[in-house]
Amino acid sequence: MSQDVQDIKTEALAAISRVDSLQSLDEQKISFLGKKGKLTVAQALMKTIPNEEKKAFGQLLNEARNAINSALEEKLSILQNEADAASVASIDLTLPAYPTPQATLHPLTIVKDEAIQILRRLGFSIADGPEIETEFHCFDALNTPLDHPARNEKDTFYFNSGKLLRTHTSSVQVRTMEKAVPPIRIIAPGSAYRRDEIDATHLSVFNQLEGLYVAEDVNLGDLKGTLEYFFQCLFGEDTEIRFRPHFFPFTEPSFEIDIMLHAKGQKPKWVEVAGCGMVDPAVFSAINKQRKDDLLNPEKVTGFAFGMGIDRLAMIKYGIRDIRLLIENDKRFLSQFA
Ligand code: PHE
Repeated sequence: MSQDVQDIKTEALAAISRVDSLQSLDEQKISFLGKKGKLTVAQALMKTIPNEEKKAFGQLLNEARNAINSALEEKLSILQNEADAASVASIDLTLPAYPTPQATLHPLTIVKDEAIQILRRLGFSIADGPEIETEFHCFDALNTPLDHPARNEKDTFYFNSGKLLRTHTSSVQVRTMEKAVPPIRIIAPGSAYRRDEIDATHLSVFNQLEGLYVAEDVNLGDLKGTLEYFFQCLFGEDTEIRFRPHFFPFTEPSFEIDIMLHAKGQKPKWVEVAGCGMVDPAVFSAINKQRKDDLLNPEKVTGFAFGMGIDRLAMIKYGIRDIRLLIENDKRFLSQFA
């Protein structure tokens, strides 16, 4: 009986040492240690053994089981190591690595950052406001009468609550003037929304940059000097700029700013890049009424404001003919601005 156990152990160890695949290792395990395996069957004979021999026989069985188990484990780790080595054998570690694609900034971000940098040099700091606005902040405080076309439902996205998607960043002027203590010098980059027909020059979501300067004695010369400096920094020192009289409800006098565009293969032409003007006293007084400190009393403060389309600036700077390219996320287009 004891000899049988010894034989089973020897047979098992020999068989395991010959195994050369994970599958046959499993088969060997079952054939010796499984429910009907040889050692399990031998173990069942325990009850037929005289009591005084049971202990020795049990020890023998244990020893055989342990020896087989450790042989199985050792073989398993050898086979797994071999499999790991085989799976990387065909990889040449000396080959150069795949190039990692390098992301670039979006042209709108490049132009926005540059515009902010220039205006910060002039002492403007960044202000912010919500894109979902009240009619007061988008229109009323900006002296825009109820029958103004911009307030029409055909031009503006309204919510059932009466709020709207801001049609310009000028609402940030109002929010700033509600709280800040003059002198105020802020710029507000951000999205604006209009129910425009989408084409090569219009999107229903676009990007603006608003500017506001409020102090005791701001004049038109300050406005012109600031914007001339700005556009010459952005487009080059010899950029020609003109101020064309215009109308905005919230500035008086008001202007549109054109710059002379010299595009390759085209006759130079004036293109509109911004709106601007001296803050209308009616705006100061609408906001001053909401304040307790009278700091925006139109008798005491003056100011200028401007607003420009960042998309338009990017199109001019890079000669982009279709505004829709800016939102299509086409890598072939975007990688040109690396
Ligand atoms: N808010 C105007 C627009 O969107 C631009 C503007 C801003 C004009 C500030 C004058 C002063 O067209």
